[in-house]
Amino acid sequence: MQTLTIRRPDDMHLHLRDGAMLQGVLPETARHFARAIIMPNLVPPVVTGADAAAYRDRILAALPAGAVFEPLMTLYLTEDTKADDVAAAHASGLVKAVKLYPAGATTNSHGGVRDLSRVMHVLEKMADIGLPLCTHGEVTTPEVDIFDREAVFIDTVLDPLRRRLPELRVVMEHITTSQGADYAATGGANLAATITTHHLVINRNHMLVGGIRPHYYCLPVAKRESHRLALRKAATSGKPCYFLGTDSAPHVDALKEHACGCAGCFTATNTMAILAQVFEDDGALGQLEGFAATHGAAFYGLPPNAGTLQLDRRETAQAFPEKIITGAGPVTVFDPGFPVYWHVAG
Ligand code: DOR
Ligand code: ZN
Repeated sequence: MQTLTIRRPDDMHLHLRDGAMLQGVLPETARHFARAIIMPNLVPPVVTGADAAAYRDRILAALPAGAVFEPLMTLYLTEDTKADDVAAAHASGLVKAVKLYPAGATTNSHGGVRDLSRVMHVLEKMADIGLPLCTHGEVTTPEVDIFDREAVFIDTVLDPLRRRLPELRVVMEHITTSQGADYAATGGANLAATITTHHLVINRNHMLVGGIRPHYYCLPVAKRESHRLALRKAATSGKPCYFLGTDSAPHVDALKEHACGCAGCFTATNTMAILAQVFEDDGALGQLEGFAATHGAAFYGLPPNAGTLQLDRRETAQAFPEKIITGAGPVTVFDPGFPVYWHVAG
């Protein structure tokens, strides 16, 4: 049996939700990950430092006994966000990033930003203090095709912003295109990109050919195969500007299997096993630690995790649970659609 021991990973983009759903999904992440950047798109969103402190306490209270896990909190940027509140939440060590949701781009984004000029004073403060901006990088213009929204965002929003504020540290969240991968690599030390597990595995055919598969629907939506291959190349490249952010985004099955299904793939349960298989298949197992454990910490200025995670490659493919049962309802676990021979030990 082959074994692989890596530094304990961090998930640099995670949705934990709240209440019964939080209680149900948190153990899935805390089992394998030391830390995660926690998305603030609750209802209502996590806008102020006080909101983030209260949400952090709820997460810590929901941890299973004995689990060691550190939530890295973020704030949801609105046109009413106060620069001083952001700076104080950062100075206290509570908040590690601010999230830009263009209004209407995705789940619970209606309170996000319509006009970037209205938050420029906040972004200037963040550039001054070195607090990263995490971007949901899609335009919401109705005329722009959903498959083009990431590339158009880069050209019309992100690049102009970075030219105006080169000191602003930016994480392009969950990139899905070759344009995203290329842009992230040319940005120097102030720019990075997260890549999800599912975007390394599926293209849009997986979601749409032979019937619509709601559990493969997420935002940004999976693109054509050439983009998936570009993401695989980026993730396995060893370049420090790319790191794991699963965007594991639980919705109960009733809301996924619906006439207007919610966006999100729930991957927390099997992400590390799938990633080991993906990296092995690409002859890049040696790059898994960088992608899942060290590049993200380095970008965020966090110490590398002391603990480790052991993965074993077995002769038989492992069976993942089809669903996890939460107090909010059942949540379907992402099905990679190929055999996964790696198991997380323990
Ligand atoms: O697929 C997604 N689900 N993309 C997002 O941007 C948000 C997330 C969610 O919160 O469900
Ligand atoms: Zn997300």
